[in-house]
Amino acid sequence: MNRQQLGSVAKAIVARQKGVLAADESGRTIRKRFESVKVEATEENRRRYREILFTTDGIERYIGGVILFEETLRQTTRDGTPFAELLSSRGILPGIKVDKGAVALALHPGERITEGLDGLRERLLEYRELGAKFAKWRAVLDSDERDVPSACGIRANTHALARYAALCQELGIVPIVEPEVLMDGAHTIERCEELTSRVLEAVFIELDAHGVFLEGMLLKPNMVIAGLKCERQAPVQEVANATLRCMSRHVPAAVPGLVFLSGGQSAEDATDHLNAMNAMGPWPWQISFSFGRALQAPVLAAWRGREDNLAAAQRILLRRCELNGLARDGKYARSLEGAP
Ligand code: 13P
Repeated sequence: MNRQQLGSVAKAIVARQKGVLAADESGRTIRKRFESVKVEATEENRRRYREILFTTDGIERYIGGVILFEETLRQTTRDGTPFAELLSSRGILPGIKVDKGAVALALHPGERITEGLDGLRERLLEYRELGAKFAKWRAVLDSDERDVPSACGIRANTHALARYAALCQELGIVPIVEPEVLMDGAHTIERCEELTSRVLEAVFIELDAHGVFLEGMLLKPNMVIAGLKCERQAPVQEVANATLRCMSRHVPAAVPGLVFLSGGQSAEDATDHLNAMNAMGPWPWQISFSFGRALQAPVLAAWRGREDNLAAAQRILLRRCELNGLARDGKYARSLEGAP
């Protein structure tokens, strides 16, 4: 493990004003996203869409890394440049989603475990050849008001995260460790804080047990937020306070950055929450983003699969990146939405 190299890649991803564009939707997920804008999920449409994202001028000021799906790592621009090469040439680090998705956890109704550890060392070696500098593994923690997630579900998922992270570091790849307490459901913000606390505590116990080098990784947590179906949605400052209280209690200062997922929040809410947290800084870690939907939903809605919408889609992506860049400095305001 080359600690110095791991540390400098992790820091570069969350350099000033920068964060991560999560464009690693699996085949099934991108199909869902495309259906919402009536685009057929063919391999070529997926390639065309990702080319629009990655060729947007100016995003390199705000995007330190892009997470790709395996198919995309093997694809090229229309003129034959591999996407990983294109991103690197623009100063954006290419990363790769390496988990194989979540399946039902045996004997634990309502819980899931993420698969993909078998053969992972070999796959990582190949992804590294193809240019990947970092990786991502997502554990999903479903929740109810009582029994889910169970101690067993948390242990199984955090153990897998730690095995993945150790494998990545052995091969010089920076792991993004993503334990996501889902915001689906009706749980309160208090319940989310309690669960996120339990999960993060378990994550760092496992990472420590597996010898993971904290300075050479990034954490991708959920914000502490009420479930989408909860009657009471907390105001922005309450989300920021609860999230940072939870992170301060459980995330060691050695971790260079927290790259929050958006998890189904609107683009504006995600940016607002990020901004409020940075406005309360400084913090021991960079407070940054690794947004999928919160960066892409408005872009997809503008594109709708049409060539003549390409420029508009790229303008919207750049604008969202800029706004999140401002939020990294605590300088975003809702009134900037809609302004050029
Ligand atoms: P969202 O920001 O849409 O939650 O996606 C981030 C991600 O990569 C989830 O794994």
